Amino acid sequence: MKSRLDPSTAARQSRERWDSQFSAPGTYVPALDALMQILDAKDGYTALHCRRVRELAQLVAVKMDWQPLMVRTTMLAAYYHDIGKLGICNCVLNKPGRLSPAEREAMQRHPTVGRELIESFLIVQRAAVVIEQHHESWDGSGYPHGAAEDNILPEARILRVCDVYDALVTDRPYRQGYAHDEAAQIIREGIGTEFEPQAAETLLCVTQQLRMAA
Ligand SMILES: [Fe+2]
Repeated sequence: MKSRLDPSTAARQSRERWDSQFSAPGTYVPALDALMQILDAKDGYTALHCRRVRELAQLVAVKMDWQPLMVRTTMLAAYYHDIGKLGICNCVLNKPGRLSPAEREAMQRHPTVGRELIESFLIVQRAAVVIEQHHESWDGSGYPHGAAEDNILPEARILRVCDVYDALVTDRPYRQGYAHDEAAQIIREGIGTEFEPQAAETLLCVTQQLRMAA
């Protein structure tokens, strides 16, 4: 694991590379941005969460010294990872109490719905698979398929831990966001079960650096 740049510089440089590739003729997909705008209008929290997770996932992927193409796939998947929530009622998405079995089942379909929504766009086909895997756990206890270890794409391992960290540190209708130290402890406790160790350790390193830089 190497750290050649400070996180903000690495993020900016990778983001610029990503933006230039994503904006290149033949690769920009207006329909996907339109879907994100619809998600924004429907559930502003989730759309903002997707943007924050994209930034975090980018930092983690760069810190792991990945090639630009894998960083780009990670960012694409992170940005669209919850797009499948378009099909879920806000009364379920923001429900303060426990979900009923039927509501939980609907919620657990969103990774597959997300994959189905975007897989027809050629440039994001690998990202579509990453999206479907973003709730899979390292030990096979996640959903929708119970995939484990090497059956989970590396980009999805990063997305999984960044997704959980961002959800922990932000306020939700049913609870206040955790402080960084509490969230970091929860992530640590999930290493090897929910989270792939290297992805989780790198996330903890990146978030600690961001905290010190703030
Ligand atoms: Fe999700």
